[in-house]
Amino acid sequence: MISYTGIHKPYDIGEYSVERNAKVLQRYRFMHEGLLRVMAGQLPARGDWDLKLGLCRHMYENAEAANALRGRIPELRTSSAVLGKEPDAVLSLLIDELIHAENDLELTAGIYAVVKPALLETYRRHMATTQQIVDQPTLRILRTIVLDLEEQVTWGCELQRMLEDSGVFPAHEPFTDRLRSYIAAAGGIDSSLPKTTELPPRERSTEPYRLPLRSVRDPRTMGPVTWARTSMSNAPDDEMGRRVVATMRVRQEEMTACELVSGVLYSQRQMPWSFHRDLARHVWDEARHAMFGQAALEAEGYDWKKEPQYTSDYDVNEHKLPGAQYAWLSIGIEEGAMVSNGKKKEFEYFRDEAKHPLMQQFQDYDWADEVVHANLGRKWVPELLEEEIAFVREVAKKELDHFWSEVNKATEQWRASKAGNE
Ligand SMILES: [Fe+2]
Ligand SMILES: [Fe+2]
Repeated sequence: MISYTGIHKPYDIGEYSVERNAKVLQRYRFMHEGLLRVMAGQLPARGDWDLKLGLCRHMYENAEAANALRGRIPELRTSSAVLGKEPDAVLSLLIDELIHAENDLELTAGIYAVVKPALLETYRRHMATTQQIVDQPTLRILRTIVLDLEEQVTWGCELQRMLEDSGVFPAHEPFTDRLRSYIAAAGGIDSSLPKTTELPPRERSTEPYRLPLRSVRDPRTMGPVTWARTSMSNAPDDEMGRRVVATMRVRQEEMTACELVSGVLYSQRQMPWSFHRDLARHVWDEARHAMFGQAALEAEGYDWKKEPQYTSDYDVNEHKLPGAQYAWLSIGIEEGAMVSNGKKKEFEYFRDEAKHPLMQQFQDYDWADEVVHANLGRKWVPELLEEEIAFVREVAKKELDHFWSEVNKATEQWRASKAGNE
């Protein structure tokens, strides 16, 4: 269709006035920010490797969805002051309860079989029934979000079946049925259905959710957690082979950085929206780095899952102030990696010495990402600590000393026990 730039049904009257549209978009925004929060808080507590990676990616996609909606709402004669508000106490309850999922299956089913399908259905209806000319800017945003949601739901439902088939988790239905009842009590995600005056009570969320002090790896499918750098037990004997494999393994172990950043994101509710958006991206970047390592190891036949699983970034730092944690990672580690023997050297090693095209490509992008992360540190840690960057760098130095003393101690103990076993 050439006329109307290809927009269909140009004469149909739509379902949404400006006022109603702003109200429902505000609810959609809240749901994506709520899901981001749930995923950030739950990441360190969940064990399944694929679930962890998916949560990291979907934190980022939720943040991008919320960000686009945040741009649209103030265009609808609505003050941007509403962007910090919670639109419906029952939707807030839904998010509060979802974060109390107690195992991988409950969280997977809650997010991917209940909440996200409800969003998908709502957005499809919105797109079909809104006036197509007046609401084209919303349509464009929703179309992008729907593409992400479709992929997320397909992926999550497959993971849910896998977790159910493992037979280790109790039935998720008591939890997920309750989540469904909250959505119904709210009159649906968009409140288009009658709301109940019988407000559902809190079930698990009478206590606030707490981040775990130690991060989790699935003990059924993975080796034990460790604070030591253990590389691969069957790494090659020659120096280059050893270094290549050790670097792959260090990349794969970056999940622990995702957990640190997501813990900081979760705990700093008072920070501006752009902080949450930046950190959601930071989490996803570290998960991509973990997949660099996973892919490089698996391409060469290494069974990295059965090896000890490194959790130091999160575990050693978790009891510290969030500003100290983020200073340690973004300034101590990431800004530190910008020196001449840092990320650039790592990339050149794979290009010029190891001549390993896959790792060369991974390190090329790893380096690019770390430049971004060091900038995030310089942008946000001064605000988290209310101090100048010079003070932040001193904090980061002290945190690094403490961190390496813990990791080196663990690595020495691990080496000694390995030598004792041989
Ligand atoms: Fe990284
Ligand atoms: Fe990084």
